[in-house]
Amino acid sequence: MFIDVAGSSPIEVYQFLVGIVTPRPIGWVTTIDAEGQVNLAPFSFYNVFGANPPVAVFSPTLRRDGTRKDTLLNVEATGEFVLNAAVESLTQAVVLSSAELPRGESEVELAGLTLLPSVMVRPPRIAESPAHFECRLRQVVPIGDGPTAANLVIGEIIAIHVDDSILDDLGRVDPHKLKSIGRLGGDWYCRTSDLFTVKRPV
Ligand SMILES: Cc1cc2nc3c(=O)[nH]c(=O)nc-3n(C[C@H](O)[C@H](O)[C@H](O)COP(=O)(O)O)c2cc1C
Repeated sequence: MFIDVAGSSPIEVYQFLVGIVTPRPIGWVTTIDAEGQVNLAPFSFYNVFGANPPVAVFSPTLRRDGTRKDTLLNVEATGEFVLNAAVESLTQAVVLSSAELPRGESEVELAGLTLLPSVMVRPPRIAESPAHFECRLRQVVPIGDGPTAANLVIGEIIAIHVDDSILDDLGRVDPHKLKSIGRLGGDWYCRTSDLFTVKRPV
């Protein structure tokens, strides 16, 4: 099969992208609006890039009607966000929090979650999540203006919280304890319970 992107619909292209680039990490983002109302949503167009300074990027795409998602509006309004680790025990809450609620209604309440204050930024953390990145916005890069167009939200990670329960004896994150989940295409997700190690060449 060959797909000429220019001759395909954005939705078709999207299905191939998210079907092939798997598994994707999930950035579970808390933001606040100008009135301080908390918003929570998952984004699997997400990763970290570099550590000096540490940078996180996620992408709230434009909705099918071309409007911007609340997370993007909030980040643009406040310049801050928190990335909460999406782990296996919270899978249902992660997915529930993707509900398109009317602006001002809380996904946190819907998913039965608890908020914890952050230290350096105003958006709070999700208490049930074992790790959090507090982020300050560096730049929003819009790429395109049609449905599913990307907006790259580039943030600097200015503080990291890690629950001691997910650390190994050396004080590093133990993947067996963190139990991240990943997103595949459609409604598919994966666990990180089938792990293996590979030594790198010297
Ligand atoms: C696991 C998961 C990953 C998602 N990843 C993205 C993503 O990378 N970009 C995006 O725009 N929407 C993504 N969504 C959909 C958003 O979470 C959804 O549109 C949400 O309502 C946006 O919330 P907001 O309008 O409060 O910002 C994802 C949904 C799920 C369940």
